[in-house]
Amino acid sequence: MIEPIWLLAAAATLSGVANANPAQFEHRADKLEAHLQQRGDAGAPEAVSPPHYPSPWMNPNADGWEAAYIQAKQFVSQMTLMEKVNLTTGVGWEGEQCVGQVGAVPRLGLTSMCMQDSPVGVRDTDFNSVFTSGQTAAATFDRALLYARGLAMGQEHRGKGVTVQLGPVAGPLGRAPEGGRNWEGFAPDPVLTGISIAETIRGIQDAGVIACAKHFIGNEQEHFRQVGEAQGYGYNITQTLSSNIDDKTMHEMYLWPFADAIRAGVGSVMCSYNQINNSYACQNSKMLNNLLKGELGFQGFVMTDWQAHQSGVSSALAGLDMSMPGDTVFNSGLSYWGPNLTLAVVNGTLPEWRLDDMAMRIMAAFFKVGNTVGSQVPINFDSWTLDTYGPVHFAAGVGHQQINHHVDVRADHGTLIREIAAKGTVLLKNTNNALPLNKPKFLVVVGDDAGSNPDGPNGCSDRGCDNGTLAMAWGSGSANFPYMVTPDAALQAKAISDGTVYQSILANNRPDTTEALVSQDGVTAIVFVNADSGEGYINVAGNEGDRLNLTIWHEGDQLIKNVSSLCNNTIVVIHSTGPVIVDEWYDSPNVTAILWAGIPGQESGNSIVDVLYGAVNPAARTPFTWGSSRESYGTDVLYEPNSQTPQLDFTEGVFIDYRHFDKTNQTPRYEFGYGLSYTTFSYANLNVQKVPVAPYTPNEGYTEPAPTISTTNASTNLADYLFPNSTLSHVWQYIYPYLNTSSSGKEASGDLHYGEPADKYLPPNATDGSAQPYLPASDKISPGGNAALYDILYTITADVTNTGPVTGDEVPQLYVSLGGPDDPPVVLRGFDRIHDLAPGQTGVFSAVLTRRDLSNWDTVKQDWVISNYTKTVYVGSSSRKLSLKQTLA
Ligand code: BGC
Repeated sequence: MIEPIWLLAAAATLSGVANANPAQFEHRADKLEAHLQQRGDAGAPEAVSPPHYPSPWMNPNADGWEAAYIQAKQFVSQMTLMEKVNLTTGVGWEGEQCVGQVGAVPRLGLTSMCMQDSPVGVRDTDFNSVFTSGQTAAATFDRALLYARGLAMGQEHRGKGVTVQLGPVAGPLGRAPEGGRNWEGFAPDPVLTGISIAETIRGIQDAGVIACAKHFIGNEQEHFRQVGEAQGYGYNITQTLSSNIDDKTMHEMYLWPFADAIRAGVGSVMCSYNQINNSYACQNSKMLNNLLKGELGFQGFVMTDWQAHQSGVSSALAGLDMSMPGDTVFNSGLSYWGPNLTLAVVNGTLPEWRLDDMAMRIMAAFFKVGNTVGSQVPINFDSWTLDTYGPVHFAAGVGHQQINHHVDVRADHGTLIREIAAKGTVLLKNTNNALPLNKPKFLVVVGDDAGSNPDGPNGCSDRGCDNGTLAMAWGSGSANFPYMVTPDAALQAKAISDGTVYQSILANNRPDTTEALVSQDGVTAIVFVNADSGEGYINVAGNEGDRLNLTIWHEGDQLIKNVSSLCNNTIVVIHSTGPVIVDEWYDSPNVTAILWAGIPGQESGNSIVDVLYGAVNPAARTPFTWGSSRESYGTDVLYEPNSQTPQLDFTEGVFIDYRHFDKTNQTPRYEFGYGLSYTTFSYANLNVQKVPVAPYTPNEGYTEPAPTISTTNASTNLADYLFPNSTLSHVWQYIYPYLNTSSSGKEASGDLHYGEPADKYLPPNATDGSAQPYLPASDKISPGGNAALYDILYTITADVTNTGPVTGDEVPQLYVSLGGPDDPPVVLRGFDRIHDLAPGQTGVFSAVLTRRDLSNWDTVKQDWVISNYTKTVYVGSSSRKLSLKQTLA
């Protein structure tokens, strides 16, 4: 396949001075045309991402950002050009203590901002907690727990001196169940993910830490996300994967939860490695300028994923605000920004308002979460070693000092983690009152997933192995365990206190002893199995991040079949990063109960004991569908490159997960939203009330022009920007904002268009700072899109009664049929977890339907519209158990 010409220059010449790199702008329509003609012979034209310029600047009146804007303006207006550049560019891989840090502004008292993984706790340190995965937290369907988890994680990051927690995750959404990082996100449903990410963000930011919604966008698989990584596995690719997503699917699925994140006030967004419609996410003006900052009114800053930065000025004009970790590739000592950004502003290629806007966005996010300059918690850990003393500049090996203070930030979060994991455990099957357990006479636990990793809970770096019980999956989305309670340890302790006889075989491959043990009289057997996945840079048993299949690992199916053939009370517990195929044994009468315990975190064993013995009555719901084969999902990972720029066409549109099963009329093993309890519930009295509301008005008019933040007349003498050798010693590989030459010649800049007027090679309007027309779906002040989209059009209530023997929580769910021929049969629009309903007690489920909930994206109007098709409201206990129904007037 022929590569898009304007992307070939991505690995631009770098000389330490400006790299305007014009050849790679998306707008080169002439080249595109030629390219498409050439490709026409070979097949369908590739997806193309249309240009959108200029990059929207911050809005001083944006809801929730007003005070932060004022503070930011006060600060940024005092900054020099190079200080601003320093804020936008990371210091390079392993240049400081966090996984990413930008330059400090010592003159104004601002210490370096620290970006640190992960979405489950503080990564690469000690004395931190390991929370449940996002996916497991989503299974609670409990807003308060999602918030509490975010708050606790935020507090731990704050205590370590972190400025930005690199999470939560809404990309991947979970297009394919095999996707390696689905567990880092929440669910393959935009509403469940949207609510979950918003609550998590509120929690993190209430703790004084900036959240980072990632990975924007279309980051749905690990294969081919990075060229070097893929080449390392032997794939012949030259550009990263392009996720080809049409406008309607983008809005109705993948962008939806990011709108919720922005509405929740998220301070930063991470652009992803992949391309979207053949334009890199971190320089995709359609995604960043148009959708994120224009339509959704995002006021915070966009940072690259690590090494996802591909170009200099072009990415700045396309809406990028921060380069992470700052170097072009790890430890190159070169940067697309840093000195290049300094020179680009000095020589007028990049308008200063765009640099000011980057600095404003970064500082506004900093102030918005409650930081003040000078009172940041000092960074007190080091990502590259747990040694107490070492080099503060790890890559260069210089600056020996105390780098780890081993600050214990855990507080009593273990209790919360135990609760979330228990309340996120889904009871999939329960027959013959197998559960809850009540002082069983003889309990046998089988499986390597019940025991510990022989190398300890942190024995595999970034959890890159599947040894022992699966309490955390692998990749940058992990954290180091402070301890990990195995199911075996917790169940044994419980058994002993109950007087139960307890024996365990913590291996899957001991058929003789296992059979002998489970065939003894009166045994209750619990088989623990798992299926793991993670991030693409680690390959576990041939799984290069993405799962190779949906089956249970380590011959777990065989283990379950062996045990259940001999023991008529076999309970199965699954730890996994998504659905697994359960067909071989799920309906065996001897398999009396099945639980999905997700990725539970450090309290794994305690949480499962709470559920198995009924201290927590399960109410969690599966946040994805369990199909009977991988084919039944209709989507999959692209495992072999179909070109040197692999093309992943999202041809299924909005039909992923339950929407696909419903559309194709397949009966899944367990449907999205399904989960049992130790009690039962009935639903009645659906009441739908229309709320009077003004009609929708598309936004119109014009923004303010790009503001002037600083009035410093920056010098145009390049000698003023040279490295200050007399006052600073140069750290090897470190990225600075200073130039290393004052020659602006063509040779020095490596700029093919040196000397040409910028408007000859920049995209039309890219440097235009004049007032810009509002997009119809945007809002003048409200982040998240046109505020009228969030108007409540209907309120819904229903009665939920506990008809069983014990107190329990219930998760009523609200679904809608939008009624059109291209719409899914039903889509989730709301839910609640009603707590502690006593036997016989009735609780009221209330939910609302907003205008957005009832709209489709109109690709012609470029706005949301409510179609004329009849809309139907459903309330029930899962996506397929919808006992209450009413048509909307
Ligand atoms: C991951 C990000 C992570 C970053 C920093 C990347 O490889 O995709 O999710 O935040 O590394 O560790």
